[in-house]
Amino acid sequence: MPTASLIHLANGRQFPAIAGKSLLDCAAQAGLVLEHSCRNGRCGTCKTRVLQGQTEPLLPDQSLSPEQQAEGWVLSCAVQALGEVSLDAEDLGPLAELKLLTLPARIDSLEQPTPDVLRLVLRLPPNSGFRYLAGQYINIIGPQGIKRAYSLANAPRADGKLQLHIKKVAGGALSTYWFEQAKVGDLLRLEGPRGSFFLRDVAGMDLFLLATGTGFAPILALLEELAQRPAEAQPRSLAVYWGGRQAQDLYSDLPALPPHCPPLNFVPVLSRADESWGGERGHIQDALLRRNPSLTNAWVFACGSNAMIASAQKQLLAAGLSARRFCSDAFVAA
Ligand SMILES: Cc1cc2nc3c(=O)[nH]c(=O)nc-3n(C[C@H](O)[C@H](O)[C@H](O)COP(=O)(O)OP(=O)(O)OC[C@H]3O[C@@H](n4cnc5c(N)ncnc54)[C@H](O)[C@@H]3O)c2cc1C
Ligand code: FES
Repeated sequence: MPTASLIHLANGRQFPAIAGKSLLDCAAQAGLVLEHSCRNGRCGTCKTRVLQGQTEPLLPDQSLSPEQQAEGWVLSCAVQALGEVSLDAEDLGPLAELKLLTLPARIDSLEQPTPDVLRLVLRLPPNSGFRYLAGQYINIIGPQGIKRAYSLANAPRADGKLQLHIKKVAGGALSTYWFEQAKVGDLLRLEGPRGSFFLRDVAGMDLFLLATGTGFAPILALLEELAQRPAEAQPRSLAVYWGGRQAQDLYSDLPALPPHCPPLNFVPVLSRADESWGGERGHIQDALLRRNPSLTNAWVFACGSNAMIASAQKQLLAAGLSARRFCSDAFVAA
């Protein structure tokens, strides 16, 4: 019997290549999780460099520049291995223990902090066994089987409830349901947990949490998780940069953190504020760089629009941030 070709990771782990399956799915089949978010070639989160071997596209690559492709970068969700392959990537240990589940979920409460944002809470059946890491997202399967991704806005809690923050997209299929029909008691389906946006070991680091719009949801979950970590696991500094067009886009308060966490430096950034606005203007990554020229001791977690994430990654890495310490979730369209 021919032996399967192997895909090798930088930390020594390896798993079989399966014809017709992406590198990401081959890893999952072997119980390993690689960095990822959208799984459809759009967000770039799963990009990794092929150190040795050949790959072939399975999906259109909508994220890498021609220069990156020429340097050997691939999207692990969008290519298959052609024979033995070595990647400059490591698996994300803690995620492998989480089981992907499909579950019924009922709307427990709904509120609209602004006309364009819905904050809702879902409840799962008792003993559903749903486990996730703060920062991850789920897919909601709504009416007519429409499936869309939403980040969880809270860390796991004893009552198992899940909060989502949903931005209205004009004419959007699921937005129409959320903003015109959804009501308390509605039954939906949930698939998850998904994604690799979760808090790493940030002890002693400068921690920057960046969000645009409802990208603020998983940032709240990360803050909740941080509050639960002991004093010795805390970063040495903590800042949240939240960007919107106008003041009303920043629809939520920040949580009060316990005294063992570093003081939270909140920097709201508006791109279309009127003259009365006295705070930061423009893009959040520019505001961050204006205030923090050195990023050698930083961890950055960024969530929200793909445009913000792509620019932030480029600018912050150019300013000295280690590529391995930039973690993101881009809200790309389905
Ligand atoms: C990993 C991940 C996590 C996400 N988490 C959240 C979340 O926590 N909160 C949240 O509000 N959204 C989130 N999204 C986006 C969400 O999944 C949907 O894409 C969004 O709600 C629009 O769905 P829709 O069915 O209303 O619109 P669709 O019917 O899918 O789209 C209608 C039209 O609007 C365009 N469009 C879709 N999304 C956007 C957008 N964001 N901005 C501008 N145009 C758009 C589409 O290209 C299409 O032309 C996330 C996406 C991903 C991939
Ligand atoms: S491009 Fe591969 S996970 Fe988004």
